[in-house]
Formats: sequence, structure tokens, C-alpha cells
Amino acid sequence: MTLQIKNIEQYHEAYHRSVENPEGFWAEIASTFVWDRKWDKVVHHDFITPDIRWFEGGKLNITVNCLDRHIETKGDQIAIIWEANEANEPSKKLTYKQLLAEVNKCANALKAQGVKKGDRICFYMPMIQEVAIAMLACARIGAIHSVVFAGFSANALADRIKDAECKMVICSDYNRRGPKSIAVKDVVDEAIALGCDSVEKVLVYKSTGDKVKWNAAIDLWWHETVDTMSDQCEPEIMDAEDMLFILYTSGSTGKPKGVVHTCGGYMVYTEYSFKNVFQYQDGDVYWCTADVGWITGHSYILYGPLLAGATTMMFEGVPGHPDAGRFWHVCEKHRVNQFYTAPTAIRALMAAGWHEPEKYDLSSLKVIGSVGEPINEEAWHWYDEKVGRGRAPIVDTWWQTETGGILITPLPGITDAKPCFASYPLPGVQPVLLDPNGIELVGNNVEGLLCIKYPWPSMLRTTYGDHERCRTTYFAAFKNYYFTGDGAKRDEEGRYRIIGRVDDVINVSGHRIGTAEVEDAINQHSGVVESAVVGYPHDIKGQGIYAYVKAHHEVVDPEHMRKEILAVVTKHIGPIAKPDKIQFVLQLPKTRSGKIMRRILRKIAEGETGQLGDISTLLNPECVEELKTGALV
Ligand code: PRX
Repeated sequence: MTLQIKNIEQYHEAYHRSVENPEGFWAEIASTFVWDRKWDKVVHHDFITPDIRWFEGGKLNITVNCLDRHIETKGDQIAIIWEANEANEPSKKLTYKQLLAEVNKCANALKAQGVKKGDRICFYMPMIQEVAIAMLACARIGAIHSVVFAGFSANALADRIKDAECKMVICSDYNRRGPKSIAVKDVVDEAIALGCDSVEKVLVYKSTGDKVKWNAAIDLWWHETVDTMSDQCEPEIMDAEDMLFILYTSGSTGKPKGVVHTCGGYMVYTEYSFKNVFQYQDGDVYWCTADVGWITGHSYILYGPLLAGATTMMFEGVPGHPDAGRFWHVCEKHRVNQFYTAPTAIRALMAAGWHEPEKYDLSSLKVIGSVGEPINEEAWHWYDEKVGRGRAPIVDTWWQTETGGILITPLPGITDAKPCFASYPLPGVQPVLLDPNGIELVGNNVEGLLCIKYPWPSMLRTTYGDHERCRTTYFAAFKNYYFTGDGAKRDEEGRYRIIGRVDDVINVSGHRIGTAEVEDAINQHSGVVESAVVGYPHDIKGQGIYAYVKAHHEVVDPEHMRKEILAVVTKHIGPIAKPDKIQFVLQLPKTRSGKIMRRILRKIAEGETGQLGDISTLLNPECVEELKTGALV
């Protein structure tokens, strides 16, 4: 069993040990897993190249640790509870034994289709149990999953399939999300038609039974391909540093990059962090409401909980369907003990029904979590009072796709929970704040750029197919540090408060969106010359998307043009990236070197037109008045 910290003394002791002797600290935790061969070296540390390796020489299969090793003691325990989109539809449950059998069948089916170790498999799936089964099936045979959130458009899906040269796509026929029905397979067909030549097969799970177009040359039904297979499948023995998965995420520039996680380190860290952050005890029911298309779904719906032998829940629907009480109803129904969601959902539910949670029995809750974006004070208190009832502590967990697991968080009942503070690093994590010159800010009561100065097992190893991009994005800004892209404060007692991104990434409803990506999409509209996108504070979404658009000609029908731009963004990225506000402008503020001065645009979007700062370096300072006059605030 992995280390589970129980009190503040143990936290301090473990933290101290993890800094003094990181290799010893992690070796002890890693030794609680099943390895086919023990590692030769715990960590190889080079933040320059970068070249990071954990448990090198070690051999393992993560699914053995997620499934097989629990069979003897927990074979009949529920591994996954699935809750449907419709409240009156029955839940489905899979025991560890059943899950292992399903994973093995799917793994055998993939093998029969020629999938081998190292092949990339793209997922475009709703939140159904089969997504978990198929991801684990990939891991069982050493194939690399690349899950794409099923809200992305065909273009965005095609970009990701091509970048990773995926051999197969796994999808469903349709998907029900709240009141909507989404034609998932159609989107996959459309993506493949955009030149995804690497795709040999499309495996389709019949989820809703709606009729789909069928291409017998490449399409396969899950029930015909998987269900007939043997439920025994020998796991592929992987090197600790073999790739486990790719997950695309947005950055400041260019197209999304494929963050690469590897088998050994990711396994060790996700279980360790899961057990400590949620203080999971045998028999508890744990529910994370994320979608498996994001890192939270990978680490804390699937891998972390299953490694810990937990009962983890998957929810197909959306928070407000059929009403704002759905989350609380599900918590009551399944006697959920740990509940983990995003501030945007908390704010939306708070707005939809301040007293709604009071109607439900939430006495089973022991820990409630928040992830993905800063949680504002009002939402924090509402969550604490109405959901946690002052009894279940809030864990405001800070981490990223790149970090693989939670790095900074309160420990429930162990470190105190201060509103809006992610608080303290987990043992094994060494955060620092730097000034813009890269000087470490020592002591407390300081604010700076959040970096990590020592590797942790689940950190990204590269960006798929482009190691240089990994180096420049995360390791080149400050020598010998991993740069997170976030700004943070450290209070008088050493707690961290995350302020938000300091780069051109915005966080909309907890979804990470690169402003450059949205601009690229807007610029695809034939009437657009150029555009600039910034974030602005949004009551529910945390940040909204504000686009300044310069058109070729005078915009005579702004409403029509606005709709067209939204359609273009939906086509190129997906509805999550649609601007909330579009301001048509005659000019964008530019420096003499031709760069758009975003600082000014951000201030105007935030409604702070009186505090624009120095505009004397602008090439076209006269545009500022026009921008202010037309501001949509
Ligand atoms: O800005 C931080 C914010 O989300 C970013 C990472 O986004 P993503 O890779 O999509 O992963 C989200 C789920 C882990 C971070 O750079 N963020 C994440 N958690 C918090 C947060 N901001 C404030 N508080 C948090 N707890």
C-alpha cells in the first residue's frame, strides 16, 4: 500500500524526507506496486535537454496494477459505477473481475485488428464505461491512447489524429449530453475524410442505437469485434519509460501539443496523489465529474482510483440535466464519499439554485474537491457550506495536463483549508516562485512565476513528435526549472494561491484554450483581416473569450458576421472556443515592430479603460479611443 499521510506531523516528516532524499522517498512508494523487473535508477534529472526518466530499467504493466493485483482481495468489489445521462435510466456497475474480463476482451480484439505495442489509438468517445475499458485495453497491450474530448470539431479531431498518426479511432454511434443528441460517428467520418490516412479501422460502440453511416471497409462494430473475444489476455511488459498516452493541450502558440506521459512514473504518482488528496478508504465511493477527454479524467477517474482499488464513478450527463439538483441527487443515490468537480460547475449550480443542495442527503461526503481554474471566494464558501456542510473539507487542487497529477493542494483534515488557496505542495513536489529575471523569491508574502525545481514521477517527458517544443515551452524560460505558465502568491504561512496564466492561454469553464488557436480559426473567415483574442472575467465561466476583429470591409450587418464567425470557430475547434464577445475594430493596437499589444486589449475587455498604462510605444495610438468607445462591457 502506498504512503497515506494521516496528520500534519506525518506531512512535515514526509515532505522533509522527499526533499532530503527524493530517490529514497519515491523508491519506497514505487515498491508498493507490482513490477516485472525492479528499476535500476529511481530518477534521471536533466531540465536542460530536457531528459527526465523515472524508474529506468523497471518493467511493468499499469493494468496489472489497476486490475489483476486487486482480483484476489477485491474481485467482487465495484470498480466503476456508471450513471446515465437520464436520471431515470439504471446505473451500471462493473466489478474488478468483470472490468478485467472486459479489458482483456477488448485488448484481444485490438490485437486481432493488428494493433501492436507503440501504435497510437485515438478515442472520440462519450462518458460511457467502454471508454475506460478501451483505454485500459490499449495499456494492456502497450498501445498508446490519445483521447480527444468529444466536444471538439472534426477539424480539431483530424489535426490530432494526424499529429499522432493514429492507426485506429474508437468512438460511439451517438452521445446524449443533457437534452442534446450528438452524432459522434459522423464527426469521426468527417475527420477521416480530411486526410487522416493513417487510420485503418474505426471501432464503433453502439451506445444509443441511432442509425449511422457505415463504411464496411474500415468500420467495425464493438459488439461484433470485442464481445466474442477471450477474456484472458497476457499483459505486454512495458519499460517504465515507455509511452502510456498522449493528451493534447493548448499553449500560447500554434496548434495544441501532444503531452506525453509514460508508464512507471505516471502510475506511481497518480495512485500516491489520489490516496492522499482524497484520503480514500476501502469501501468509499469516489466521484470525479470531469470528462475523460481531459487529464483529470485520465488521472482521477481512471488510473489513480483503479490503482488504489477504489470504486470510481463515471457520469455521462451534464450538471444541469434534468435540473440543478442532479449532482446532489447522484451523490445521495450512490452515497458518494469524495466528490471532485470544477469551479465553473460550482458557479453554475450556485446560480441555478442557491438552496438546491439542501434538498439532498449529502451526509456521506467526506472530501469535496475543486480543479481546473481558480475558485472565487463566493463559490468556495457556497461549496463549503451548502455541499460540504462545513464537515467535508475542500481540496482546491492545482495541477496541469503536463504535471500528470495534483501537485499543490490542501490535505483534507490535515492541512487547514483557506478559501481560494491551493495551499501546500504534496511531499515530493518542490515549487518555487521566480521573478521575471528568474531569481527565486525566498521567504513568504511574495508573488511570482510558479516553477518547479525538481522532477516528480508523473511529469511530462516530451511533446509528441516535437521535443524542441517541449524544451522551449517549459524548460527554456528559466534554466533548470519547469515553468508552469501560472502566476502565484505565497502567503505569510507558505500557502500558495494560484492567480492564473501569465501566458496567452485562457481558461474558459476550466477548458484550456490558446488565444492563438481561436485567432487562427477566426481568421479563416474570408471577411476577416486579422483578430486578437483575450480573456476577460466571466461570472460563470471564470474567463470568457473576447475577440477583436478587423474586417476587410465595413461590417454592415454585425450580427450576421458575428454568427458566421461563431460558426467558423465551431468548425475549426468546437463550441467550447466560441467567443462570448466580438468587437469589430478598424485597427488593432500595434507596436512599432508590428506586434499586437494585448495588454491594452485585455484592459479594455476587463472594462478598465482608465488604466491602460503607457500607450506611447504604439504605432497607432489613435486606435485606442475607437477601441474604448466600441468596448462590449
Ligand atoms: O492555470 C492553471 C489552471 O489550469 C491550468 C491547467 O489546465 P489543464 O492542463 O487543462 O489542466 C486542468 C486540470 C488539472 C493551470 O495552468 N488550474 C488548474 N487547477 C487550478 C488552476 N488554477 C487555479 N486553481 C486550481 N486549483
